[in-house]
Amino acid sequence: MQHLLCNWIFQTSNRRCVAALAVLLSLSLFYIGIKPWIRTQTVLFDTEVVDAPSRNTEVSDEPARMTSQSAQTPKTGHKTESQTPKTVHKTDSQTPKTVHKTDSQTPKPLQKSSAMKESEEKQKGFSSLPVDSRALKKNFPMLKEAAKKHSGRYHSRLDQMMATYLPAVDTSAWSPHSPSGKKLTIEEVHSVAKSTIQPGFQVPNIAHFVMPFGETNLQFHQMVSLLSCLHIMKPHRLLLWYAPGKLPSGHWWDRVRKNLTESEWEERIIFVQRPIPTSVYTVPVHGKEHQSDVMRLEAVLVFGGLYMDIDVLVLKPLEPLRKFVCTIGREVPYGLCNGVFLSAPSGTFLAMWHTAYQVFNDEAWGEHSVKLPHSMQAAFPDLCHVEEESMDRPNWTPEERTWIYNIGQQSRWDWRTKNYVMHLWFRLYNKQHSMDSIRTLNSMYGEMCRRILYGSGQP
Ligand SMILES: *[C@@H]1O[C@H](CO)[C@@H](O)[C@H](O)[C@H]1NC(C)=O
Repeated sequence: MQHLLCNWIFQTSNRRCVAALAVLLSLSLFYIGIKPWIRTQTVLFDTEVVDAPSRNTEVSDEPARMTSQSAQTPKTGHKTESQTPKTVHKTDSQTPKTVHKTDSQTPKPLQKSSAMKESEEKQKGFSSLPVDSRALKKNFPMLKEAAKKHSGRYHSRLDQMMATYLPAVDTSAWSPHSPSGKKLTIEEVHSVAKSTIQPGFQVPNIAHFVMPFGETNLQFHQMVSLLSCLHIMKPHRLLLWYAPGKLPSGHWWDRVRKNLTESEWEERIIFVQRPIPTSVYTVPVHGKEHQSDVMRLEAVLVFGGLYMDIDVLVLKPLEPLRKFVCTIGREVPYGLCNGVFLSAPSGTFLAMWHTAYQVFNDEAWGEHSVKLPHSMQAAFPDLCHVEEESMDRPNWTPEERTWIYNIGQQSRWDWRTKNYVMHLWFRLYNKQHSMDSIRTLNSMYGEMCRRILYGSGQP
């Protein structure tokens, strides 16, 4: 068709000029035609059926974050056998058009029910995040400098690879639903989250967990972690992110469920199913811990709130921290830990952190999750508040870990006055307890669990 058109035009005078115009015209027609379709593809929900709660019993392995020597070689865990997620990279509408689609099937004719059209309309707002794009643009050169130190194999290609200063988050396969299976739109979740930001606060009163997607059987300390969040932070909504087929299960999970009444559970808990990311921007993400890093970053970037690893205990209400746009804890002098952090929705620090994943190096350990936020915060101290001792201390070093777990070491660290939250670095301890054994455990860990489970640190 283009060929015929060209032939016809070439009969006329001034061939080159007209040909150039024709090419331009057909290109723009093509672009106008295809653009709405691309948008549709990136904002539509996955229509996958929501998993029913499973009840298998296996041992869990949660992602833990540390940069110790012993942790230099992360368990190269079996990749979960989840389906390969779609890798549609949605970009902000202001970015150069770089929508990468992997499967290039021909556009289906649009035959949508009015309900579908309506829900599409609703979600259009999420084709771009309401980020402060001016700040992101201005900070981009300095962000690149900070990211360069942590980009490993991409160091020499950083300028080509860090192509956009706007975060690209693909929410098309996120599927939020209530415990009973009622589907929610991302927009609905977003507005609930926003409605929990009282005057004077920046961070919504919601919390996110990424449920372990290796094994689903909940462990004792993970139950305590969930209960500490529910009863001490008291979030309006608790968002439990899980990979398809990986809903939590087992005895301790049942105990969490039974802790709330049916109606409280239905009202306060939101499950969000999403595929495990295997790439971010153009780079691969295969490490289990790294996949979880991307999931938590995107969860808090889009909705705001608290993210905590499922081996973190909440020990005090978090209201004072919800007044900062962004808060993260220091674990070591050169590292801030992404195992627990808070942010406003679309926060600038988190948006920059996400865009730095354009040069994410899957082979390195702790660069983007611990050292990069440290470098970024040093470069942009106004964008993120650091809690020096109240979130990730005691840290994972062998000495400080003994304060948490060794018997009779409680005088070494005053968790009652110092800590908002406590990171347990549980993988390095890994002893299973029960309601019985925790009653008499004479350690800081025992005290904290008892405070959460029984309201008192005493045995
Ligand atoms: C729920 O958990 C809290 C905190 O651990 C505890 O105080 C409360 O007794 C539990 N309630 C039920 C019904 O299990």
